[in-house]
Amino acid sequence: MNSLDTRVVDLVESGEYAEQAARLLMEAFKALDKDAWPDLPSAREEVAECRSEGFLCLGLVNIDAQECPGELLGWAGLRPMYDKTWELHPMVMAPRWQAQGLGRKLLAAIEEAGRQRGLLGIVLGTDDETGSTSLSQQPLNGQNLAAEICNIKNLRNHPFEFYQRCGYSIIGVIPDANGPCKPDIWMWKSLAGSNGI
Ligand SMILES: CC(C)(COP(=O)(O)OP(=O)(O)OC[C@H]1O[C@@H](n2cnc3c(N)ncnc32)[C@H](O)[C@@H]1OP(=O)(O)O)[C@@H](O)C(=O)NCCC(=O)NCCS
Repeated sequence: MNSLDTRVVDLVESGEYAEQAARLLMEAFKALDKDAWPDLPSAREEVAECRSEGFLCLGLVNIDAQECPGELLGWAGLRPMYDKTWELHPMVMAPRWQAQGLGRKLLAAIEEAGRQRGLLGIVLGTDDETGSTSLSQQPLNGQNLAAEICNIKNLRNHPFEFYQRCGYSIIGVIPDANGPCKPDIWMWKSLAGSNGI
């Protein structure tokens, strides 16, 4: 757990961190060998969309005087999908700040913002395009889908487990979403109750 002093900032209200958010998005997904946002213009476009009026978009900023104060450590967005259940997109921490408990902190902050907005749940899709879970190891069909979801294994640090640790459940899979044996894993969390779990 990282004890760094951080502050949650509203990225819809303030454009101050928009450029950092675009660079962070591009770099974090490049580090995963994903070409979702291969260059700054595409990343800037994504940030602009996530900052749309009516969306929720929060950043976690370092306010520790000792180490790069003002640095954006990660950011997350929530956008309307259903009336009371919105989609989390994206959720990203800068590579050097991953695995220190800060993603969990940021996710908790955007969940609380969702609660304040009157949401009852959050849904998200997390792709497996790189053979990182057992779900991508064989073709999925109506016969094996439910069993494969129940027995899912994390083969290479796939983030579905991060979400599970934060109280999300797998609610379904879109087989071949991104090509043969490249499924998208759908997850959901209720925002009811104090911790939502
Ligand atoms: C996924 C991501 C947001 C997680 O944030 P993070 O700050 O690294 O995660 P945390 O340190 O807060 O981890 C919280 C818990 O989840 C676990 N966890 C985090 N990432 C994990 C992974 N890839 N695989 C398995 N477990 C993971 C941690 O071990 C920790 O477990 P604990 O309950 O024992 O404390 C971050 O790693 C990231 O930005 N990755 C690149 C972009 C990405 O994949 N985004 C998600 C796309 S759907």
